[in-house]
Amino acid sequence: MEKKKIGVLTSGGDAPGMNAAVRAVTRTAIYKGFEVVGILRGYNGLLNSEFRTLTRGSVSDIIQRGGTMIYTARCPEFKEWENIMRAKEICERENMCGIVAIGGDGTFRGAADLSRAGVPCIGIPGTIDNDIQCSEYTIGYDTAMNTVVEMIDKIRDTSQSHERCAVVEVMGRHAGHIALSTGLACGATAVIVPEMPHDMDAIVSRIKEVRAMGKKQFIIVVAEGVGGVDKIAKEIQEATGIESRATVFGHVQRGGSPTVRDRVMASEMGYYAVELLEKGIGNRVVGYKDGKVYDVDIQEALSMKKPFNERRYKICNEINF
Ligand code: ADP
Ligand code: F6P
Repeated sequence: MEKKKIGVLTSGGDAPGMNAAVRAVTRTAIYKGFEVVGILRGYNGLLNSEFRTLTRGSVSDIIQRGGTMIYTARCPEFKEWENIMRAKEICERENMCGIVAIGGDGTFRGAADLSRAGVPCIGIPGTIDNDIQCSEYTIGYDTAMNTVVEMIDKIRDTSQSHERCAVVEVMGRHAGHIALSTGLACGATAVIVPEMPHDMDAIVSRIKEVRAMGKKQFIIVVAEGVGGVDKIAKEIQEATGIESRATVFGHVQRGGSPTVRDRVMASEMGYYAVELLEKGIGNRVVGYKDGKVYDVDIQEALSMKKPFNERRYKICNEINF
């Protein structure tokens, strides 16, 4: 009898550690007696039958690599029910008994629809933004933050030499998690995030106050969801007389070799996802909570609200000057 197949796809923005998750899903499934098919370019590859058989060997030498070897893409057509039904027929034709979908909220919506159509799907949170409600951690977040910290440390050297203020924009489409933690880690004078109101007059007063105390350089970390770093730098320069420069870090934050944390999380979550599919369970997201990997219904996961770490924000404001 033909072996049952598990499909794995990555969708939405890539994140370091996605490869480690693909590897974990593949190796776990093979260990448990399944065949594994890599679905290329997210849900597009499913609709276009772009498949690649994954073996133990084909996922070797990727645990340490950023990006995703099975590619990622956005597929707006997957929001239409007729395409979900088409995808279900393709899964049946391919003898696919379940799919692991690695990505963010949008990816989970697709996984929920496909589960409803009858193909059990499990979501794994993979996004540098760490903005998935049901999970305290998303794959890629730690690597991206370490990349940001390395870049801010470099900017700090030149800001110190020129006695300047550096205004940097870090990724986070709607979320300030990267900005907050890297701001704390780099001693930023201010962190500007979409979750909290900010007062430019207060930031300017603080810069003036600490310049008077002898501080030479300043770092302002701005989340992408707020944006406008050029304008902020101009405002600071005009109000303080301190030369200011804006830098947008951009997609460099999404690349690079995943950190230990991302590799371990990806391996644990990938393993857990296959355990669920083995039991015939679908429509779940694997998350991380209170030090443990767990699973939750996709709709419930999508309806949760992720709290912003206001205490960390307060610490930033009280000690970073
Ligand atoms: P992320 O998964 O990182 O949030 P996107 O929001 O771009 O990224 O979503 C990734 C993909 O998931 C989309 O291109 C689409 O294929 C699928 N998707 C998003 N929203 C839905 C939805 N409401 N129903 C079905 N599929 C969806
Ligand atoms: O969601 C992850 C993310 O990196 C966001 O922080 C950013 O806004 C977005 O993806 C960028 O997406 P794209 O690769 O399409 O430019």
